[in-house]
Amino acid sequence: MAQVQYDCSRGNHQNITNSTTSPVGHEQIQLLLHVCKEAKKSAYCPYSHFPVGAALLTCDGKIFSGCNVENACYPLGVCAERTAIQKAVSEGYVNFRAMAIASNSEEDFIVPCGACRQVMREFSRDWDIYMTKPDGTYIVKTLQELLPLSFGPEDLKKF
Ligand code: THU
Repeated sequence: MAQVQYDCSRGNHQNITNSTTSPVGHEQIQLLLHVCKEAKKSAYCPYSHFPVGAALLTCDGKIFSGCNVENACYPLGVCAERTAIQKAVSEGYVNFRAMAIASNSEEDFIVPCGACRQVMREFSRDWDIYMTKPDGTYIVKTLQELLPLSFGPEDLKKF
């Protein structure tokens, strides 16, 4: 599959540029949906038995997957979304275009927790989050919609 390059020119963080000006194509969305579903299979969730998978699309068209990783010391568990972000950042990618999330919940679209929304927000308000159901349906919101009036890196630069 051809690598898709996204226009990420409307940045709001030094060295971090994101934008919704370049829409995510149908094929790329389908790929994200597939990757997050696959990532869910790796979830380590012996305590909650609630597997979650995430697929993070960078502005370079690269996809990083993630799953939730729980711990016997419960608070140390990490969500799928943050796993994917940490994988991407640790490999030098900080410009994100979209993320898709999958769980086994048939009734509800899986939504990111508040902590994950804040971690996502670090890298821009202006990217798309695809919240799915196992049947392949989804709703999509920008991070700005999921976390309005947010605090971010720019706020630390006002002093
Ligand atoms: N979880 C995620 O990984 N992402 C979400 O969007 C919601 C919750 C995980 C955390 C924990 O391992 C399990 O699901 C139950 O909360």
